[in-house]
Order: sequence, then C-alpha cells, then structure tokens
Amino acid sequence: MPADIPRADCIARTRKSDLVKHTATSVVTIERFIIEQERLHPEATGELSGLLYDLGLAEKMIANKVRSAGLADILGATDLENVQGETQQKLDVLANEIMVKALDHGGRLCAMASEEEPDIIPIPENFRCGKYCLLFDPLDGSSNIDVNVPVGTIFSVTRKITSGSRGEMEDMLQAGRKQVAAGYVIYGSSTMMVYTTGQGAHGFTLDPSLGEFLLSHPNIRIPAVGRYLSVNDSYHGQWEPEVQALMRYYRGQEGGRQPMSTRYVGSLVADFHRNLLGGGLFAYPANRKNRRGKLRLLYEANPLAFIVEQAGGAATDGTQRIMDVQPTELHQRTPLFIGSKNDVDAARSTLGKAPADASARTAVGSVGA
Ligand code: AHG
Ligand code: MN
Ligand code: MN
Repeated sequence: MPADIPRADCIARTRKSDLVKHTATSVVTIERFIIEQERLHPEATGELSGLLYDLGLAEKMIANKVRSAGLADILGATDLENVQGETQQKLDVLANEIMVKALDHGGRLCAMASEEEPDIIPIPENFRCGKYCLLFDPLDGSSNIDVNVPVGTIFSVTRKITSGSRGEMEDMLQAGRKQVAAGYVIYGSSTMMVYTTGQGAHGFTLDPSLGEFLLSHPNIRIPAVGRYLSVNDSYHGQWEPEVQALMRYYRGQEGGRQPMSTRYVGSLVADFHRNLLGGGLFAYPANRKNRRGKLRLLYEANPLAFIVEQAGGAATDGTQRIMDVQPTELHQRTPLFIGSKNDVDAARSTLGKAPADASARTAVGSVGA
C-alpha cells in the first residue's frame, strides 16, 4: 500500500489464506501476527510494528496493576481532576504514566495525547522523534474499577503531518480516517486486545502463564443487525424527541424492528466489545446538559470507529461518519452511535434529518426507515 493512502480508507485486503493459523501445538503470538501482517507491505519500515509491540507491553503492565488493584492500595480516587473536570482515579494516573513511560523513548512517536493530560505530551529532547502520533484513553470506565467491573485502554495512531522536528497540535487534530492503527484492551474475565491496521480487526487473548497475547479472534465481523442496545436510559428526559423516538425504534416499540436487549456496563470498551462480537449498538447521544455528548472523539470514538468499520459495522455522530469529523480541539466530545451497520444507519437516517432549530423538532414517525 502506498505510504500516502491512509490505511483507514483502504478495504481490508487480507485474504483468509494470508492469515497465520493457530493450532493446538502452534500458537500465534501477537508479535508473530504483526510480523506476518507487515510482510504484506514490502514498503513498511517496521516502525509501526515496533510501536504495536510497545503498546502490547504497556497494556500487559496495566493489566497487571488492574488485576492486583484491590491488594495494592491503588483503588479509589485521587484528589485531582483531569482537564475535563472529572475526578481522576489512582489507576487513571498510574495507567497514564505507564503508557507515557513505555512509549516515549522508542523513537517511533513524535508526540502523544492522553485523555488524562491537558496538552500534548512531547517526546523528551534526549529521545529520537519518530513519524507517528499516539492518542489514548489510558483507562476507560475508571469509575467501575472499585467494583471489579471490566475496564479498558483505547489507542489511536496517526502519521506526523507537520514538517518541524517535533510533533505539534496539528498532528494530533487529524480526522479519524487518517488513522493507521487503532485498538483497545479489555481487562475483563480475561485480558484481550483487539486492533486494526486497516486489514481487518483481530483479537488476541492474554495467556497469563506465557505473558503473551495469542491470536484468538482473527478477522472479527460484527452482525449487520444488533441484538444488544447499550445506552444510559437515565438521560431519557434530557434527550431530544428524535433521540427518544430512535430508542423506541430500537426497543421495537415503533417502526417494526425486533426489540433489542438492553445491556449497559458503563465502560465503553466492555459495552463495545460485547456488541462487536455479538452484534449491537452502543449509543451516547447528546442531551440537554451535554450538547456534544460525553465521549471523546480522539481517544474513544475514532479508534473504535476504525475497528468497527473494519469489522463491517459503522459509527456516526448522528449526522456524520465519525471518521470524517474534523477535530478542532484535543479533548473534543462527540455524540456516538456505534456498532451493527443497520442500527447505525437507523440513527443516521433519523437524526441526520433533524432540523437545526431544536424548538422546531417533532418526534419522528418513520424511525429507521
Ligand atoms: P472514562 O472512564 O475514560 O472517563 O470513560 C467513561 C465513559 C465510558 O467508558 C462510558 O461508556 C461512559 O463514560 C459512561 O457514562 P455515563 O455514566 O454518563 O453513562
Ligand atoms: Mn473513556
Ligand atoms: Mn479514561
């Protein structure tokens, strides 16, 4: 693939026969898989592969901390707030530090940005500057840590586009379709990493006895119609009438759709992961209090949108494909409807035609048409 074509815009071209096979006696580690994928691109320099290894290591370190959190006095809140005014949990701070320290010295990154830090994170002067940018949510769903509910890490990789010697804000504010890689790790009943470089979405399960991520879910495909609806219903009274009508459609109360089952963990990664494997829709619409929703475009929506599209699903903010939104701020929030394609299309067709003036809105009668 020519270097100037963003991978997110390329069709998954991996043939089944290109994929390494995992048998009882031959395990496929994430390292091996990355190398096999890299061989499909003779022009690749190996830098992206190196970055993915480093991420794998950082995530194993975070998994370790999450697993022992109840024993190591790292549960609970700090007395700090992040730039978005949210209380930082001790593990938010720790996971952020692990990511930065594992990735700042490898010579592959020009800068980083984290949900937990107000500004871009420069690569220290004594380390080489690379050609990639990394944006991440070090710990997603952190309010769930204390009650032993799955949490995760989400990451997005883009190319440096400025010509200066170090990474700049412009490098960070790129539309999601420019991503070259994206992934997440879920620290659940097992630890799993799912990533894409634009050649399908692939899942790896951490074997704790080997300390290795092993290929367990090659070429994930999300069903076109979802079984599960993940949404926080307590915002119902604050949603615009179109959003309320859309939810009635998903529940089979109008529009003739088979009702979806509600499942809401409150950790985006966990809700997304279930829906990716089983088919479903995660929705965090804007509401009257949060006019732009809650979730972050660069650390949460974009990377998951890249993965879901690679798996045959879709993601929209209600009017626009998530990966086409041009970011203007590092910590920009966005409404998010992500998951099975037909269900995301219903959101797009219902919310996309809503008038700009909220006072002129009426409930939509033909939801999902
Ligand atoms: P984070 O812990 O990174 O701040 O993310 C929390 C997010 C997301 O994981 C979850 O889906 C959502 O917040 C839950 O928000 P509500 O409690 O408003 O439903
Ligand atoms: Mn998050
Ligand atoms: Mn977070």
